[in-house]
Amino acid sequence: MKNAVSLLCAAAACSFLWLSCAPKQNVELYLDQDVDLEARVEDALSRMSVEEKVAIIHAQSKFSSAGVPRLGIPELWCTDGPHGIRPEVKWDEWDQAGWTNDSIVAFPALTCLAATWNEDMSLLYGRSIGEEARYREKDVLLGPGVNIYRTPLGGRNFEYMGEDPFLAGQLVVPYIPGVQEQGVATCVKHYCLNNEETHRHTVNVDLSDRALYEIYLPAFKKACQEGGSWSIMASYNLYRGEHVCHNDRLLNQVLKGEWGYDGAVISDWGGCHDTDQAIHNGLDLEYGTGTDGLATGTKNEYDNYHLAHPYLQKIRSGEVGTDELDDKARRVLRLIMRTAMRDGKPAGNKCSEQHYQAARRIGDEGIVLLKNNANTLPLNVKGGKILVVGENAVKMMTVGGGSSSLKVQKEISPLDAIRARAAQDGTEVVWARGYVGDVTGSYNGVTTGQDLSEERSAEELIAEAVALAGESDAVIFVGGLNKAKHQDCEGRDRKSMELPYGQDAVVEALAAVGTPLSVVMVSGNAVAMPWVEKVPAILQAWYIGSEAGECIADVVFGDVNPSGRLPFSFPVALSDSPAHQEGMSFPNNNDCFYGEGIFVGYRWFENKGIDVLFPFGHGLSYTTFEYSDASISAKSIKSVQEAVGADVESEKKARKSSTLTVKVSVKNTGDRAGAEVVQLYIQDVEASVERPVKELKGFKKVFLEPGQSKTVSFEINEDMLRFFDDQRHAWVSEKGEFNAIVAASAADIMATLPFSLK
Ligand code: BGC
Repeated sequence: MKNAVSLLCAAAACSFLWLSCAPKQNVELYLDQDVDLEARVEDALSRMSVEEKVAIIHAQSKFSSAGVPRLGIPELWCTDGPHGIRPEVKWDEWDQAGWTNDSIVAFPALTCLAATWNEDMSLLYGRSIGEEARYREKDVLLGPGVNIYRTPLGGRNFEYMGEDPFLAGQLVVPYIPGVQEQGVATCVKHYCLNNEETHRHTVNVDLSDRALYEIYLPAFKKACQEGGSWSIMASYNLYRGEHVCHNDRLLNQVLKGEWGYDGAVISDWGGCHDTDQAIHNGLDLEYGTGTDGLATGTKNEYDNYHLAHPYLQKIRSGEVGTDELDDKARRVLRLIMRTAMRDGKPAGNKCSEQHYQAARRIGDEGIVLLKNNANTLPLNVKGGKILVVGENAVKMMTVGGGSSSLKVQKEISPLDAIRARAAQDGTEVVWARGYVGDVTGSYNGVTTGQDLSEERSAEELIAEAVALAGESDAVIFVGGLNKAKHQDCEGRDRKSMELPYGQDAVVEALAAVGTPLSVVMVSGNAVAMPWVEKVPAILQAWYIGSEAGECIADVVFGDVNPSGRLPFSFPVALSDSPAHQEGMSFPNNNDCFYGEGIFVGYRWFENKGIDVLFPFGHGLSYTTFEYSDASISAKSIKSVQEAVGADVESEKKARKSSTLTVKVSVKNTGDRAGAEVVQLYIQDVEASVERPVKELKGFKKVFLEPGQSKTVSFEINEDMLRFFDDQRHAWVSEKGEFNAIVAASAADIMATLPFSLK
């Protein structure tokens, strides 16, 4: 495939060659890995004609862009992510190409990764998916996504890492080197404010700088600066009247200016709308403009991309110079040299046993036990009968949902895994449909092959489930959302927070039977649970991918002790949620002001005193933990602000002495091994601006054997006390009183340790 593509690309590049200078020829240089990257980039740039530079800054097919064949510079091949490597599509179409060797492992959705609260899982994830990308000969993985969870209706929340900038930032960072050590770039997306799907191309977001800097940018900044992501995807929406794909403020001023980003900005597919803005406002690589590259009947529609012939014409006519072009080409060359042109890349592998094990570990650690009255879980019905109810117990979830849709080598359903595990104990498992959800099962030509058609009425399905529940020792309802339109799906938001397809009635009916009932929610979003008091046990099981069923069975049977924690709050009702207050509308087709400002997720619920169904950071275990001996190393820290800007050594010294240590001992007081996530929040007791009640600033996941204790410690420094001051355009800390709050969730506080900033 790549060879065929190279030929096409060579032909395309030749058609540009009629203009300008005689470029130098030297291929060998590019093979020398020891030459410094910047020197190689500059050398390549100096040998390229204007036409060749233009050729590398826009797509040549759905997922590839040209290299410079004359100089031996290869093409760049992108692939979706973020949960597995997308099946090959046709050159100019979204439809799959029909290859038979492109099935892969589906890893858990990023909400599940975030729910592990474990950076090691993020590195494992990155390495595993990076190896699959490498094996499939991809250069850029389009992911991971770190848009902040603003509303439970967000169609793509399942692809992101929750509502808290600190959590999302910590979890995204290790994923990136994991992928990039394979010679595959990550492309962190969708930068930024892409919080709505319905009108994603037209919604014009505005918000305070404080909300932008405190909530929506930090995870992207960490991904670029600490993770070192070699590329970033600019989002579809507008910000202050300009599409983000060519938004001067977000791309030139913030990303490349304030953050000093040296990577390439890639447009979301079809997100570029204007040649002038694309030239001047920071876009480097244009993809996806128009849905079908050959539809207009032009010889090569890709020549009509904003950053193709239209750009070239402006250069030729003298309307624009070539400084911007050089900057774009330089960034794209850097990306190519870091990936496609990297020598000695590992071979990668796909569908290996290690990758399935990685998917299972991450899934096992991400499942959240929301509720467990009377030790309903793990199941203890050896030799008895389990009734499994619900479409999501059998439905494949890896097909659908938009660009993250996959073609898996295997996907174990909850029913199959529960049945296999139960058989080991001589336990019988029966299944009842319960409700009819989405019976389709195809996306861009990939089909599940499942026949989910159903003739019976809702009443008949409920009656069957209820009758079987009466004869069973335990009932597991597996429901939630799916990847159909208006569920958890790109391009469409949810229409309400309620469970779809009449599932509430099924749960209510099952609860009324009295057989111990566990609800397993498969979703990437919070759902309303009007029956919460009537159901003794609830698991939040996300979309786990290939090993979904195995992970659910691991937790249901107690082979794995659940240790996931919620990466976003579950409100009781949609109207409680910050993006759905009076005067604010969602979805928005035009101007959308984020009136809630920095008060997103738990920051909102806590400031307004609104009770939630399940709080941020919540998750139970089959064992119990006891916290003790919480301490703080001093009563105050001295501000380093006076030392900032002095000589480097004095600043370093000041920073070092301006740190507090919080310690707390955690003991596993139950009789099985388990993991606790110790969370550190900071509260600013009095400030000149309104601040959240508290904000997450640290977390540690500790694994403890029965009876074992460990001391967990956190460092606190002045940076963690700051807020973003819109007026001064600066991060500011104010002297005064603070609390270090050690907690097991946003609502479960273990210790409050006062200190001050002097
Ligand atoms: C999505 C991106 C995706 C791209 C390529 C766009 O519609 O928003 O997330 O990477 O398509 O499939």
